Amino acid sequence: MTKGSNKLAWITGGGTGIGKALALALDKQGWQVIISGRTEQKLQAVVELGQKIAYLTLDVTDREQSQQVFNTLYEKYGLPEVVVLNAGDYTPMPVDEFNLDLVYKLNQVNYLGVMNGLASILPLMKARKSGQILLMASVAGYRGLPDAAPYGATKAALINFCEAMYIPLKKQGVLLRIINPGFVTTQLTAKNTFKMPAEITSTEAAERIVKALASNSFEITFPKRFTYILKILRVLPYRLYFFFTSKIIGK
Ligand SMILES: NC(=O)c1ccc[n+]([C@@H]2O[C@H](COP(=O)([O-])OP(=O)(O)OC[C@H]3O[C@@H](n4cnc5c(N)ncnc54)[C@H](OP(=O)(O)O)[C@@H]3O)[C@@H](O)[C@H]2O)c1
Repeated sequence: MTKGSNKLAWITGGGTGIGKALALALDKQGWQVIISGRTEQKLQAVVELGQKIAYLTLDVTDREQSQQVFNTLYEKYGLPEVVVLNAGDYTPMPVDEFNLDLVYKLNQVNYLGVMNGLASILPLMKARKSGQILLMASVAGYRGLPDAAPYGATKAALINFCEAMYIPLKKQGVLLRIINPGFVTTQLTAKNTFKMPAEITSTEAAERIVKALASNSFEITFPKRFTYILKILRVLPYRLYFFFTSKIIGK
């Protein structure tokens, strides 16, 4: 946490999964948490589970609405100390089922949706010279993984973007960080038909994120027993990388 913390957090995609678990974990620690998402009933259900959770509905793909919702949040609650741009979507895409609509949709939610949130919050955070903004990417963004091309590409874009902005923003007092989880049990990963290695619960994922808020490392990644294997795959030369992926998919 940065100096002068006001313990106010904004989490997009806070109605379910990792965002919901994170909202509840921060709430337990006395934070005021504002959650956003498209589905009011889901957001309301999280509000009822917490002490100091409120919601503002938002479709992150809507550029104007993103700015308006942030303005409302700022007027009502102030400038958050922590913002987690977590809203995201995933659908696998086998190579023989190329789906351009899916490519557009995942880019609009996972990449441009995060950019909309970032654009709304960044000017005031820079002016204040403090605060943390966490972008929810994935280890699927480390390298291209079979069946995850459109999703992985959006997460790779976030990682690259965040790498480029980290140092310049840090010099201005704003910590822009990336979260790269492995497999977490949520409605999103329920779409996977394979056994997910080292899968953890959303509560465990939230615990790792909350713990990491006290540090200022660039990346938050978990569970390390899995994500560090992917880090090794990330630095392999293509020939070796494709050798291993072809073994994994058995093709
Ligand atoms: N689960 C994993 O293994 C895993 C691993 C790595 C990274 N991640 C990332 O973690 C994030 C959270 O995913 P999750 O696993 O917790 O799945 P989830 O439960 O499906 O959460 C995604 C949330 O995003 C919201 N959302 C989707 N589209 C939106 C839009 N256009 N505008 C506003 N909100 C939107 C959804 O709410 P509404 O539908 O109500 O809007 C939902 O609450 C995602 O970015 C995902 O890519 C997950």
